[in-house]
Amino acid sequence: MDDATIRFTVDGIEIEAVAGQTVIEACDAAGIYIPRLCHHPDLAPAGQCRVCTCTINGRNGAACVTPAMQGMVVENETKPLNDDRRAIIEMLFVEGNHPCVYCVASGDCELQALGYRLGLDAPKQPYLWPGRPLDTTHPDIILDHDRCILCSRCIRASRMEDGKTVFGFEGRGIAMRLNVDAQGGLGETQMAAIDRAASVCPVACIVIKRDSYKVPNGKRRFDVSPIGSDIEAKRMPRT
Ligand code: SF4
Ligand code: SF4
Ligand code: FES
Repeated sequence: MDDATIRFTVDGIEIEAVAGQTVIEACDAAGIYIPRLCHHPDLAPAGQCRVCTCTINGRNGAACVTPAMQGMVVENETKPLNDDRRAIIEMLFVEGNHPCVYCVASGDCELQALGYRLGLDAPKQPYLWPGRPLDTTHPDIILDHDRCILCSRCIRASRMEDGKTVFGFEGRGIAMRLNVDAQGGLGETQMAAIDRAASVCPVACIVIKRDSYKVPNGKRRFDVSPIGSDIEAKRMPRT
């Protein structure tokens, strides 16, 4: 262990991190999965969704924006934390319109996959059935606002990876919505289907036209293995 190595525990397991890593980055590298939605490994963290909240030295904090520190004690896989995560996922389901059965992202959707992982059954909260317009103005991309969970991944990717400002938020609280930087919809923006912003959406809000069924239902990412299992596989004993 050199001077730059940090050691801390997660659910009693000691792991190592290097200076500058966040808790979620260190856990990913160590094979411990912390549920997350707004976090994407290629994007600057936003601390937006709170799904990654862990108890860190006795206080709750978002693992994606908390730097790893020597000796910290992190709790991740606890009933209260998973209850809170399930409640967040449930709210996202009922605040939007999510008919998974016929959604193009089914099996490849992080919201749906987290619902399965956390054991979400039928939501207890009433569905709000918001009326949200479908933006089909772009020749290559559909923007389905019904599915948007306001994670800001597209905003960060557009600004930081694509050098554009295609996406932003408007409104606050329950009225918050994703918008684009053109009155006439996505088709009037600088957005291109090859942009990084087009491939980071965790749900089926940004959908590339004519591209949806390359991988058939039943064979998609989370049809094959649960969300987080790629990270947890790093800890599995090798035979
Ligand atoms: S985006 Fe995900 S959660 Fe929403 S309907 Fe599609 S599969 Fe279901
Ligand atoms: S469009 Fe997708 S990536 Fe962008 S905020 Fe909505 S859910 Fe997140
Ligand atoms: S993944 Fe950390 S707050 Fe969203």
